[in-house]
Amino acid sequence: MSYLFKYYSKQYDKFMKKFRLDKSEIIIRILKNISGLEILDIGGGTGTLARELISLGAKVTILDPEINMTKIAKEKSNEIKIINGYSNNIKLRDSSIDIIVMRDSFHHIMKKEETLKECKRVLKKDGKILIYEFDKKSFIGKLIFIFETLCFERIKMLSIDEMQELIYRYFKNGEISKISNYEYIYLGNK
Ligand SMILES: C[S@@+](CC[C@H](N)C(=O)[O-])C[C@H]1O[C@@H](n2cnc3c(N)ncnc32)[C@H](O)[C@@H]1O
Repeated sequence: MSYLFKYYSKQYDKFMKKFRLDKSEIIIRILKNISGLEILDIGGGTGTLARELISLGAKVTILDPEINMTKIAKEKSNEIKIINGYSNNIKLRDSSIDIIVMRDSFHHIMKKEETLKECKRVLKKDGKILIYEFDKKSFIGKLIFIFETLCFERIKMLSIDEMQELIYRYFKNGEISKISNYEYIYLGNK
């Protein structure tokens, strides 16, 4: 159970907007043409990204354990499908998803290896996986780590090298791009 996302779900969007941590443009630019595609947004929370992906014609399912967060997502767009559950046990068929996105959620996931295994299972052949994260070695990454830890959140943030080492075990085709001095994106293929 997450204290942070259960009790601060109503403040979440305002906080992200204030600190400009809710940028979707770069993710949308990287994913390119998504119309008609099945996208799984793991840890999709309040659905800010999901709503934008839907407006571009994608079919989006959010997988997130926190009902208070996903209730807000559903209010944003009734078209967002919700699965309240955990990423290490995804209740979806094998090879049913075109794209998996995880924005700012991978460091909240403790069972990272099981999650990547599940991602590989549910992705279609040539399906894509995009992970947006904060670099644990950066100043902002460290601030986020301290803030979330003080909010009693269990997190495990990775440096770019650690992410590279971990993800390569499951997705051999892909690369990490630094998008600022504190953020990076991994984009890979099944
Ligand atoms: C910082 S929020 C990010 C929300 C959204 N992706 C965004 O960019 O606004 C992290 C989300 O990850 C979810 N989460 C934490 N552990 C998870 C897990 N094991 N599986 C799926 N989602 C998880 C939390 O409930 C929370 O909604």
